[in-house]
Amino acid sequence: MSTPIQQNNGVAASKTNTQPLWLLAEVTYRCPLHCAFCYNPTDYDKHTKNELSTEQWIQVLRDARKLGALQLGISGGEPLLRDDIEDIVAEASSLGYYTNLITSGVGLTEKRISAFKAGGLDHIQLSMHDITEEINNFITGTRTFELKKKVAAMIKEHGYPMVLNVVIHRFNIKHVKEILEMAEALGADFVELANTQYYGWSLVNRSQLMPTKEQIDEAEAITNAFREKVGNKMKIFFVVPDYFSNRPKKCMNGWGEVFMIVTANGDVLPCHSARVLPNMSFPNVKANGLKWAWEESPAFNQYRGDDWMKEPCRSCPEKEKDLGGCRCQAFLLSGDAEAADPVCTKSPHRHLIDEAIANAQNPYLQAQPILFRNDKNSRKLIE
Ligand code: FES
Repeated sequence: MSTPIQQNNGVAASKTNTQPLWLLAEVTYRCPLHCAFCYNPTDYDKHTKNELSTEQWIQVLRDARKLGALQLGISGGEPLLRDDIEDIVAEASSLGYYTNLITSGVGLTEKRISAFKAGGLDHIQLSMHDITEEINNFITGTRTFELKKKVAAMIKEHGYPMVLNVVIHRFNIKHVKEILEMAEALGADFVELANTQYYGWSLVNRSQLMPTKEQIDEAEAITNAFREKVGNKMKIFFVVPDYFSNRPKKCMNGWGEVFMIVTANGDVLPCHSARVLPNMSFPNVKANGLKWAWEESPAFNQYRGDDWMKEPCRSCPEKEKDLGGCRCQAFLLSGDAEAADPVCTKSPHRHLIDEAIANAQNPYLQAQPILFRNDKNSRKLIE
């Protein structure tokens, strides 16, 4: 199998000297699950109407390919709620994309997986939640525990590499060893233990979801030991949560550098959360070409490079490494989209992170009801 980079058929670089190598198609915000940690926007109910048609998605795929896109993630919501994913996959595959379906497994049937195989789908990423039915069903607001195991077996039977994504939070962090054992028993080839990052619904539920630093350290040590034990049989990724780091991540590998998201209604975004940022308007494929969106649009140029930075980022010797961190996290926590990401210990806003960590140990806040992702709650948060 060729790598995505090998599949680049000499597509010209854009004027910005960057290419949207990764295209994420968030084809719908509809979802049968109600996960408390979902990173989708809490106001997604505003964006559920006017989903792009099959033809519009196919045009997006063609245009993004011309700009250099190589990797396609098909995500949501739950992408399988649309009945045209087979057509989208087949077109993407014929255009030379490396295609990845990111799914909860709900709606994946023998018929559909066979059609995906025939259409050239490369990769399926399945979300799992815990080893217990109780926590799986609680955190997702659904009875999907048994179904997910069946879907995992189906993915294996159809010859796909088994990629499990498990979001880690206070409710399942004590089960990391058992989760890894379950993944091994299911024949997983890759496991991503993705510690919750706090955007969207998980930010609303932050005090209820956040584990302690000690729990994260222990989970990482267990993961390292498990990695030693299984060797190359199962590749395990442990994604360290921002809040427990001293330096921020280079979010999206740099704003407008390699990553482009097209949302269900056609908005073109440089990152998952960009629509939370104030005073910005984003291009939409119904009105603007993808080329203009990527190369010329004010939104994609707003935080490219480092011209926008102010202190302490501007004179920081590490600024190239992290580009000041995440713009959305900076705005969501400090109210200033151009501030250093508060995760950074050099940020004047670092105390906001430390307070959030402390609040997550407050029994009163921990006991507050969780706001699950659903249409009613989304409408409530819009009001
Ligand atoms: Fe928007 Fe990090 S999620 S810049």
